[in-house]
Amino acid sequence: MHEKSIELLNKAVGDELSAVHQYMYFHFHLDDQGYDLLASLFKRTAITEMMHIEKLAERILFLKGDVEMNATDKVQKLHEVEDMLKLAAKMEEDSAREYNVWANECAANADSVSKQLFESLVTEEETHFDQYDTELDNLKKFGPNYLALQSIERSKGRDAGATPAK
Ligand SMILES: [Fe+2]
Ligand SMILES: [Fe+2]
Repeated sequence: MHEKSIELLNKAVGDELSAVHQYMYFHFHLDDQGYDLLASLFKRTAITEMMHIEKLAERILFLKGDVEMNATDKVQKLHEVEDMLKLAAKMEEDSAREYNVWANECAANADSVSKQLFESLVTEEETHFDQYDTELDNLKKFGPNYLALQSIERSKGRDAGATPAK
């Protein structure tokens, strides 16, 4: 039996659920503030995290466990763009670190499929970290102009009579 793997996979489900909730919360507020590009980035990432939950759930059920749909962390009500990006980058960094450790634990328990699943998630979480880190760099480099540009994007969409991408 792969009790330990099931436990680790469920811990990952909890982390992924937290990410979905947190990123959608950021999406709602960025959309409300008119920052369409960042709003869309958070929504797309939340959808990817949801697909991670699906992969984890499939593996848990294959191992004859059950999926615990409990978010690990409560949503933090941050409304400043910089605070949002900092938290998101930290969440991705933490996930990548944890999944690396858990991949090794699964390997030690002779469960190479769960190990590979965690490794594939590490790759994707590192990509997410990188995208948030790049946005943070842009924000530092260009300051308020960077956010102004995002608002202009929405105005341009209105001029063209198009619905802004979300
Ligand atoms: Fe994820
Ligand atoms: Fe992620």
